[in-house]
Amino acid sequence: MPSLAHFITTHILDQPNGCITFADYMEWALYHPVMGYYATRALDMGKKGDFVTASHLSEDFGQLLALQFVQMWNVLGKPQKFTLLEMGAGQGKVAYDILKFLGQHHDDLYSILDYAIIERSAQFVNLQQQVLRDFSVRWCSWDDFPPDSIVGCCFSNELVDAFPVHRLTIQNGELAELYVTVNRDGWSKLDQPHPVPSSLIHQFKDQIGPLSTPELGSYFSFVGINLPSLMYEDGYVTEVNLAALDWLEKIAVRMNYGYLLTIDYGHLSPQYYHPARCQGTLQCYYHHGHHPDPYRWVGQQDITCHVDFTALQRQGERWGLKTQGFTQQALFLMSLGLGDRLVALTTPNGDGNQSDLSDLNMILQRRDALQALINPMGLGNFKVLIQSKGVADDSLTWFSTDPVTPVRG
Ligand SMILES: C[S@@+](CC[C@H](N)C(=O)[O-])C[C@H]1O[C@@H](n2cnc3c(N)ncnc32)[C@H](O)[C@@H]1O
Repeated sequence: MPSLAHFITTHILDQPNGCITFADYMEWALYHPVMGYYATRALDMGKKGDFVTASHLSEDFGQLLALQFVQMWNVLGKPQKFTLLEMGAGQGKVAYDILKFLGQHHDDLYSILDYAIIERSAQFVNLQQQVLRDFSVRWCSWDDFPPDSIVGCCFSNELVDAFPVHRLTIQNGELAELYVTVNRDGWSKLDQPHPVPSSLIHQFKDQIGPLSTPELGSYFSFVGINLPSLMYEDGYVTEVNLAALDWLEKIAVRMNYGYLLTIDYGHLSPQYYHPARCQGTLQCYYHHGHHPDPYRWVGQQDITCHVDFTALQRQGERWGLKTQGFTQQALFLMSLGLGDRLVALTTPNGDGNQSDLSDLNMILQRRDALQALINPMGLGNFKVLIQSKGVADDSLTWFSTDPVTPVRG
């Protein structure tokens, strides 16, 4: 079978203008059904793979999310059907920890729970079905949810950063798009442009062109950013995630009442599109290292971009979702009791009452994991956005506006 790079090259050469948008390139590199990153290497994510997510560190992450869902269910008046729709469930670890915890500690919610997953990668669906074989879970597509059908909470962790993005630049003071074209520089040495050997590392390069869709032009006024303007220099590079807007619309339309909880790394628009962030936020992950070159190791490395949380909030408002709150993961998890868990680890007669060395090792490992979840230089600086539809009561623990209610952690 030809390599993914060869497949993309052929596709580019078939285009009348000899280039494709970066979003199309990222789409193939990550989601080609056989050779894309999410069909191959991503399956190993975790300590063996290219990156870890919060769920790999400790089951506490899923358990604390479960506590948030219990609270949401209560605020909604304990509806007798409550859907938890997880989007982009990876190896199924978050789902496993949530379901196990609810089964053990919150049987009232567990017994009526409708746990659904929307997962794009067929290989991940297989893995999730093995990991979650002891639980009642259904794998769905968007078509399984008619308009106004969802009562509950739709949620994702590190999903939106994996959507294909458009890359934009400024040229002569005007907004332009960065397309992907084939790098012909190496071809003269090869004597034949076709087929292109997969050994060429930099088989692709950027090419500047006009915007591929007017939505890219209107995006910046939508999020309140004056771009282009004199504050931005020629050569400024950034990204726009139009797929995130489509995704949010899909959810909002299907939600009857309930919540949307999004966890990811990212910023509000003023930070995201700060003139000083002149090379954008695109990062690639390979063997726990990261770099900004999306044309290396095609299909073998993860490609991600930070999330513009202002865009999610504005798009939510456009489709009837109210922002309940926006904060850092560290504060979110602390308010759900992560601090209590840390304290209990070092308290005699708490979980911290170790009897032998192996217990002590486990306690130290768990303490490190809990600290990693709130590390302000790492996962703790991830952002959490909760939006709601048709919910009158704003009283989720972590977003209390009542100054006398302390953060539990
Ligand atoms: C970085 S992983 C995160 C996995 C998991 N949420 C976690 O915390 O470990 C991204 C996941 O989203 C899935 N995915 C990407 N785009 C998707 C889409 N449009 N719809 C559903 N799943 C998607 C990927 O296949 C993968 O399972």
